[in-house]
Amino acid sequence: MTVVLGADSYPDALVARLRESTEAAAAASRQWLGKHDKNAADAAATTAMRRALADAPFTGTVVIGEGEKDHAPMLANGESLGSGGEPHSDVAVDPLDGTRLTAEGIPGSICVIALAPRGSMFDPVGVFYMDKLICGAIGRGVVDIRRSVVENLTALALAKGVAVTQLRVAVLDKPRHVQLVADIRSAGARVRLVGEGDVSAAIAAASGGSDVDLVLGIGGTPEGIIAACGVRALGGVMQGRLAPQSDEEMATALAAGHDLASILELDDLVRSDEVLFVSTRVL
Ligand code: FBP
Repeated sequence: MTVVLGADSYPDALVARLRESTEAAAAASRQWLGKHDKNAADAAATTAMRRALADAPFTGTVVIGEGEKDHAPMLANGESLGSGGEPHSDVAVDPLDGTRLTAEGIPGSICVIALAPRGSMFDPVGVFYMDKLICGAIGRGVVDIRRSVVENLTALALAKGVAVTQLRVAVLDKPRHVQLVADIRSAGARVRLVGEGDVSAAIAAASGGSDVDLVLGIGGTPEGIIAACGVRALGGVMQGRLAPQSDEEMATALAAGHDLASILELDDLVRSDEVLFVSTRVL
């Protein structure tokens, strides 16, 4: 299944080509389903995507090429894509988000790319992790990443006209989230633990919540920028805060001049409404 968001702002031929690129990457990844080889799956997706985008009708510059953190095959930051001409776009791409799921033959991974006008995407400069809060439009002015879990859940439930016990919160299933998960459960809401792949969870939450009302917790910064494009196209709500997870990452963040206390609003993550988001499920 392929999801296309924000197509109205871009030429049909370019939208079609991006769609081909995620579908080609998903087909290539499927060859590696359940073969316990993450790198091969990632490399297959990356090669297929790069090939499909080489002469796409635009001037693309990769700003977010996920893979640096894990030294995985990736489209390199600064890499040029397309045959030239308008539009000139920043590209945020994760040829395979949820690589481990594909390697283990588990559903949930996607091949994903997002475009926005050149210069409009946030550049995290070597900071791999970000704290995220994402929900549908109803959460605008209602939830805030600076507030406690219980305050946010109470406010969101009120805005939605439901009990807190009916809210479903997606959280990456990582040791760093033990306390967060405990807080959500003690507030009375349901937790949906996501093994890998928080871009899909972000899109589900921003869509208005058919099965997820809110995403909370720390995930990849590149995935955060990609998700921000989809959230923006959907009119959803997103905030982030850089959250380095190691001394080295902290040093990189400080050297780059990032203010780690500052809240990244959706308009900081991607400074344009002209966003295009395309993803295809692998399984
Ligand atoms: P990749 O499959 O692209 O490596 O990312 C999977 C993922 O779960 C992302 O969706 C998420 O943002 C990130 O990894 C979290 O990183 P980590 O697994 O290091 O906590």
